[in-house]
Amino acid sequence: MMKLLSVVGARPNFMKIGPIIDALKGLPEVEHCLVHSGQHYDELLSGNFFADLGLPKPDVNLQAGSGSHAVQTAEIMKRIEPVLLDYKPQMVLVVGDVNSTIAAALTAVKLGIGVAHIEAGLRSFDMTMPEEINRKLTDAISSLLFVTEQSGVENLKHEGVPAEKVFLVGNVMIDCLLRHRELAAGSPILDQLGMRQKNGSGCRPYGVLTLHRPSNVDDPKILQGILEAVSALSVELPVFFPVHPRTRKNIENFGLLRYLASATEGGRGIVPLDPLGYLDFLSLNDRARIVLTDSGGVQEETTVLGVPCLTLRENTERPATVEHGSNQVVGVDSDRILAAAQSILRKPAPPLQRPPLWDGQAAPRIVAILREHLQRRDLA
Ligand code: UD1
Ligand code: UDP
Repeated sequence: MMKLLSVVGARPNFMKIGPIIDALKGLPEVEHCLVHSGQHYDELLSGNFFADLGLPKPDVNLQAGSGSHAVQTAEIMKRIEPVLLDYKPQMVLVVGDVNSTIAAALTAVKLGIGVAHIEAGLRSFDMTMPEEINRKLTDAISSLLFVTEQSGVENLKHEGVPAEKVFLVGNVMIDCLLRHRELAAGSPILDQLGMRQKNGSGCRPYGVLTLHRPSNVDDPKILQGILEAVSALSVELPVFFPVHPRTRKNIENFGLLRYLASATEGGRGIVPLDPLGYLDFLSLNDRARIVLTDSGGVQEETTVLGVPCLTLRENTERPATVEHGSNQVVGVDSDRILAAAQSILRKPAPPLQRPPLWDGQAAPRIVAILREHLQRRDLA
């Protein structure tokens, strides 16, 4: 029997665990428990993704909720420990770089349970990012490290992680995208936003913006600079902005609502939307002329969709999206963002290229390695 327990908590975790759950299906020797930490709890950041992705209801919801980093991480640790003691998994699977990832990994390893980290090895080399701390700590205590791109393998090697723990397997988030792209094409979002051409011949050009990194949205000057740049861009084409709750709160508190178009402006300016479900967001990105973002996952998805992406940060932990993909890291200077965006609009979209192994088969590779590892351990 292979007894596994996976932990999810925040929006980008759900699309990463989906393909793993699919790859485990139909294996009679596998028993799997899905734990939701409750880090994200709104329907728009959590529940809708279970529906869109056809994920099973979590076996356990820890309902840890929001809080400071210490409070949230500690709360998840406190609440997951009895679950691990009771379920006794042979291995805990964690994904990505959120507080739920490190909280679950640290609790498991202290109980003597092995941890497999999916999306290991990525580094922004910016320790002011909470995610960078989570990544480094999780990698340091994991026994299997599943890596999405070559840079991750090299980062782990430099950190002294033994090569036999490290597996370059591709990208589960891209597995999820490739599996849902066709379904997403049936989303009504483009009609709802008035972007579909009346004669059915395609779409009007538009952009997409997402922002939620604390370094961008918790600083009033930086947030204002970004909104100024995108507002200037939105004179040329409407820019749809599904707004993360952290960002919405700050736009209101910092008095920046004037940068957002009102509902009566008919798809002009920066058009704020509620956070979108996975299929609507995928459909919107797939046909976008340009995406501006500080999201990690969106940099990867636009690479595979071949949509030009401007990353509004000073660095990326996902350099493959720049080397192989359509991503440019432009920083947060207002003039630079606008100039880079205008230059994209004047050129044809770049030729489509994918990083090696981003082929939709990462999850089956991970599951095959997990089975072999656990079988070998049983025999030892
Ligand atoms: C978290 C992750 C980040 C990830 C992002 C994905 C950490 C440190 N950060 O950031 O890496 O990119 O999720 O979206 O783990 N809130 C709601 N409803 C919710 C959840 C949160 O309104 O369901 C609000 C609360 O005011 C909360 C704030 O958003 O304080 C921030 O939530 P939190 O989970 O702490 O961090 P995110 O910014 O979402
Ligand atoms: N996403 C979504 N709806 C949105 C914004 C993002 O479905 O309104 C998806 C996006 O396609 C990707 C994931 O959420 O799969 C990325 O999550 P997020 O940007 O919150 O976190 P990050 O990747 O930066 O950690």
